[in-house]
Amino acid sequence: MNQLLKYIKSPSEIEKMRTAGQLAAQVLEMITPYVKKGVTTEYLDQLCHDYIINTQNAIPACLGYRGYPKTICTSINHVICHGIPKDKKLKDGDILNIDITVIKDGYHGDTSRMFLIGKVKPIHQKLCEIAQQSLYAGISMVKPNVSLRSIGRKIEQIAKANHMSSVRDFCGHGIGKDFHESGFQVLHYDDPSAENDILQPGMTFTIEPMINLGGHQTRLLADGWTAVTKDRSYSAQYEHTLLVTESGYEVLTLRSDESLDQITKF
Ligand code: MF3
Ligand code: CO
Ligand code: CO
Repeated sequence: MNQLLKYIKSPSEIEKMRTAGQLAAQVLEMITPYVKKGVTTEYLDQLCHDYIINTQNAIPACLGYRGYPKTICTSINHVICHGIPKDKKLKDGDILNIDITVIKDGYHGDTSRMFLIGKVKPIHQKLCEIAQQSLYAGISMVKPNVSLRSIGRKIEQIAKANHMSSVRDFCGHGIGKDFHESGFQVLHYDDPSAENDILQPGMTFTIEPMINLGGHQTRLLADGWTAVTKDRSYSAQYEHTLLVTESGYEVLTLRSDESLDQITKF
């Protein structure tokens, strides 16, 4: 009945997930001071690539994954996810998601956050806040015996209450030795099919809501990767890798600029 039980990790696997998660979070911390007007996303990609390989002695999981050409994903403004770093400068008012996945000792850590470049319109700032809130609200619900359906429903409710939409064409995922565990999908909207997907201690997965100012519909660009909003409205995303514990959750990709108090508030 509960198709997620086979993805439960052993204590030694969980220890490796903690390490991979912390490394992914540390890449976001390392890159933060470089993310500003005038730098190209290609430069940011290069810095992350070299840091993961030379400093962390880890592997950039995205590079070569199903043919993806870069280390990080950089998704700007109306790009929802999987934007490919390129030789174009960040400009005042841009909102940018950087998504990092590393492999250490065979296990994956996956996390992303938004960066606001210079002076951003208040509505775009709000979009980023709501995307982060919806992630935090989803995380706050994580504990044994909770269904993924209830988490997706909560995220969709928060988007709708703010006259925004939650993307349906991309989802979170179980994660471990595999980047994306095939039978473990984390939808960010209410879907009856997730009713029997019940969380249990030792499961590791991502929540990564993509929230749009307009409709939820997506379009794929000709590069085969870049997903944009169909109506070209702006989109924001935050992502964490989580562990289900006996009493609740552990955020495996928590950064030093975040606190658990911030998360439990929602
Ligand atoms: N990190 C993305 C996720 O959250 C996946 C990126 S796959 C890539 O699942 F190939 F586009 F990098
Ligand atoms: Co992910
Ligand atoms: Co990711």
